[in-house]
Amino acid sequence: MHRYQSPLDLVRERPSEHPVACVRRGAVATAATWFRTTFEHQSFPTKVLYAVKANPSLWVLEELYAAGLRHFDVASVDEIALMRRHFPDAALAFMHPIKSRSAIRAAYYDHGVRTFAFDCLEELDKLKAETGNARDLTLILRLAVSATGANLPLTGKFGVALHEAPAALLAARHATDAKVGVSFHVGSQCMRPTAYRAAMAQAQRVIVQSGVMVDIVDVGGGFPSVYPGMTPPPMEDYAQAILAGFEDMSVSEHCELWCEPGRALVAESTSVLTRVEMRKGDALYLNDGSYGTLFDATHAKWRFPVRLHRATGDVSQTLKPFRFYGPTCDSMDHMPGPFWLPADVQEGDYVEIGMLGAYGVAMTTRFNGYGSVETVDVDDAPMSSMYGLAPAHISLPRERDETTVVKFVRPKQKKRRRK
Ligand SMILES: Cc1ncc(COP(=O)(O)O)c(C=O)c1O
Repeated sequence: MHRYQSPLDLVRERPSEHPVACVRRGAVATAATWFRTTFEHQSFPTKVLYAVKANPSLWVLEELYAAGLRHFDVASVDEIALMRRHFPDAALAFMHPIKSRSAIRAAYYDHGVRTFAFDCLEELDKLKAETGNARDLTLILRLAVSATGANLPLTGKFGVALHEAPAALLAARHATDAKVGVSFHVGSQCMRPTAYRAAMAQAQRVIVQSGVMVDIVDVGGGFPSVYPGMTPPPMEDYAQAILAGFEDMSVSEHCELWCEPGRALVAESTSVLTRVEMRKGDALYLNDGSYGTLFDATHAKWRFPVRLHRATGDVSQTLKPFRFYGPTCDSMDHMPGPFWLPADVQEGDYVEIGMLGAYGVAMTTRFNGYGSVETVDVDDAPMSSMYGLAPAHISLPRERDETTVVKFVRPKQKKRRRK
């Protein structure tokens, strides 16, 4: 991989036709160390599992492995095969609650996976049938907990209703001689640490009603990162809420506490350098978009932090709000923003979009023949950080000095919508 001091150096040294993922390996290592130090140094057994889906790039997996992470949450046979190819001794947990029968067989027989999630009795029956009633399965029941405080709620699709959960947990206990546990997901980008404690209280009620002594409580992912307009509480608050929630649960001293961070381990590591192919007023046509690394900018309307880089010459000090279009012919390939950039942005400039390490590169498709992303190492700091590598807050232009900023020009529309 090529290495540059910063994305601006890359812009100055060579123009790139495709979007470029600028990765900061150290940011992944720092986040991994925080999770390991916080959760693994307890008097009871704990595990930190990386949710591979957030970013399955080999450099990420290598960095996490080098930082000592050995447990991984995988969601498909391809993710399992990827892990087995590169890290044969990694412990894999197939945490997707609904799997195809062939995926269960491949995971169990071809790849030695023994830990499986399920969220209904039918899936438990599948697990038993496809593993020949194996008694060595670690079975984790995914609960549908109420998720308040998550920016991207994950309720609805997965999770057993709490009134059906005790029977499902008991069925799991009867189905295996190995461990059983409960898990949940409070929703991605969870802005409230108390959501974990509340979910753990719900899990506790299920456990009591079932009469099962669980071996594992898995609090899932949901740990946040920093984006414009979303400044989460410090990571320590999340750890405190979870450790206090675990303390409140009447589980045995051997019960393991698991967590499955995805976003929080990788989000801040990567920014993507995109090129402006055309400007029409406040619309910038970039060589990356919602079919590339910017899915959440379209579908969740997230405003990612941006910086303008120009190979030669100065850029305007005045900021203006822009919206982006991606390179495909689909008009849905639109990122409304607003993204604040120098007023004189022009064709050939590069827009660096930050905080795209999670669910960014991982979401890229080949639609319309686009989606080729180069990856380079950079040495500068992330645009923001939950771990002290950069400010833990991204200020929006209205919070800055009004004199250097041109006001956003669509307040009228906004007012009408609010009525
Ligand atoms: C089962 C499971 N665990 C962990 C994660 C990671 O979540 P996050 O990236 O919000 O930490 C996900 C994400 O969808 C998930 O489905």
